[in-house]
Amino acid sequence: MNLAIIGSGYVGLVTGTCFAEVGHNVICVDNDAKKVEMLHQGKIPIYEPGLEELIKKNVASGRLSFTTSIKDGIDKSLVIFIAVPTPPQPDGSVDLSYIEAVAREIAGALPKDYRIIVDKSTVPVKTGDKVAQTIKRYNKKASFDVVSNPEFLREGSAVADLMKPDRIVVGSDTQRALDAMKEIYKPFNAPILETDLNSAELIKHASNSFLALKISYINALTIICEASGADVEKVAQGMGADHRIGRAFLNAGIGYGGSCFPKDLSAFIKISDDLGYDFQLLKQVEVINREQRERFIKKIRESLWVLRDKKIGVLGLAFKGNTDDVRSSVAIALVEQMIKEGAHIKAYDPKGSEKAAPLIPKAQIVSSAEAVAEGADAIVVATEWTDFKTLDWNKIKEKMNSPLLFDGRNLLDPVKMKELGFDYYSIGR
Ligand code: NAD
Ligand code: UGA
Repeated sequence: MNLAIIGSGYVGLVTGTCFAEVGHNVICVDNDAKKVEMLHQGKIPIYEPGLEELIKKNVASGRLSFTTSIKDGIDKSLVIFIAVPTPPQPDGSVDLSYIEAVAREIAGALPKDYRIIVDKSTVPVKTGDKVAQTIKRYNKKASFDVVSNPEFLREGSAVADLMKPDRIVVGSDTQRALDAMKEIYKPFNAPILETDLNSAELIKHASNSFLALKISYINALTIICEASGADVEKVAQGMGADHRIGRAFLNAGIGYGGSCFPKDLSAFIKISDDLGYDFQLLKQVEVINREQRERFIKKIRESLWVLRDKKIGVLGLAFKGNTDDVRSSVAIALVEQMIKEGAHIKAYDPKGSEKAAPLIPKAQIVSSAEAVAEGADAIVVATEWTDFKTLDWNKIKEKMNSPLLFDGRNLLDPVKMKELGFDYYSIGR
C-alpha cells in the first residue's frame, strides 16, 4: 500500500521503515529540513538498534523515501499517519498545537478522492473528533476518515517492538478505514484489536500510566525492603513469577524518565480531571517517582557527607539503556542536582553524550567509563546500559580516588562489587 508518515522522529521514522520493510511504499515527511537532508544523505538522526541497516535497505529498494512536503506525501498515499510531538504544557495538559497544525496542513493538501488519516501520536481521548472537525472546517469537499492507531514501541527496542507487536489497536468508526488498516498490518501477523476511536485513544494513556504505576509500586517497595533487610530483586522475582502480575516493569531504580511516561501521566491526570475524576492513584505514582530520585541523592549525600568539590563520575545520561534519547532523563536531573550542590561531574554515555552535552554544560563529558573513574570520589550508575555490567570494574576501582559506587539501576552484582572492594550501594537491597 502507499503510505505517508507525517513526523519522522522516534515513532514516525521507525514506523515508516518497518512498514517499508514489510512491503509497503512509504513516504516519511518532516518539516525539519535538516533532518530530511540528513536522511537523504543516508545519515540517521536517532540511534535505535537495527534501524540504520533497515533504512538503508528500504531506501535502496525504492520503498522508503523522505520529503519536507506534506502535499507530496498525501498526493501519493491512501493512508496518512500523524506522528508529531504532543509535548506537555506547564499545567500538565497536552500541547496539541502540532496535531492541530498538521490537521490544517492535511486539509489544505487533501485531493478530492478518499484518504484515511491515522493518528499515531499519543493524544487525549476525543482528539480524533477534533482532527476530523478541523479538516472539515478547512476543506469542505474532502472525503476522509480519521482513525486512532496508538503506538506502543519502546525506545531502544523500537524496531523489534514494531515488527513483533503484542497487539495492534485500531480505533475506527468506519468499516472502510478499518479494512485498510487491517491490510496494512496483515504482514505483521499480530492480533488486531478493533475499537471505537475514543477507546483506542484511551488505551494508550491507560497503558502507559499502568506501566508507570508498576514501576512506582516496586520503587515504593524498595523503601520497605531497605527498612526490613529484604531484597527487592527477590521480591520482584517472586511477584513476577505469578503470570497475573508478570516480571516486566518491576525493575527498581531511580524512577522512570523519558519523553513519554512523565508527560503521559500528567496528561492522563489532567484528562481525568477534565472528565470529572480526580485520579489520586496516578498522582501518587508521580510523587513516588520524584521521591525515589531524591532518596537516591540523599544516599549519595550521606556517604560523601558534602557534595561540594567532590569529583563524581556518572555512568549513563540517556533516559534508559540502548538509546541516545536524553529527554526528561533522570540521569540528567541527577547530574543537575549534584552540580547545583557544588560537585564536579564527569559523565559518559555510550550513545547519549552528544544530545546530553548542551543540557548539562557544566559537566565534563568524556568518552569512556575509565575516564569517568579517573580521580573520582564516587561513581553513580544512572542508566541501565548492559555495557556497564561487563566493564572491568577492578580497573575502574584502581583509577578512583575512593571506591564508592552508587548503582541507581541495580545493574551490578552486590556480592561481586563488595568482593572487589567497593563500598557499594544500590536500591532496595
Ligand atoms: P519526535 O520529536 O522524535 O518526532 C516528531 C517529529 O515530528 C520531529 O522530527 C518533528 O520535526 C516532526 N514534526 C513536527 N511538526 C511537524 C509538522 N507540522 N510536519 C511534519 N513534521 C513535523 O517525537 P516522537 O518521540 O516520535 O513522538 C511522537 C509522538 O508519538 C508523541 O505523541 C509521543 O508521545 C508518541 N509516542 C512516542 C514513543 C517513543 O518512544 N518516543 C512511543 C509511542 C508513542
Ligand atoms: C514507554 C512504553 O514502555 C512504551 O510502550 C510506549 O510506547 C512509550 O513509553 C511511549 O508511549 O512513548 P519508553 O519510554 O521508550 O517506552 O521506555 P520504557 O522501557 O518504558 O522506559 C521508560 C522509563 O522507565 C525509563 O526511564 C526506564 O529506565 C524506566 N523503567 C522501565 C524502570 O525504571 N523500571 C522498569 O522496570 C522499566
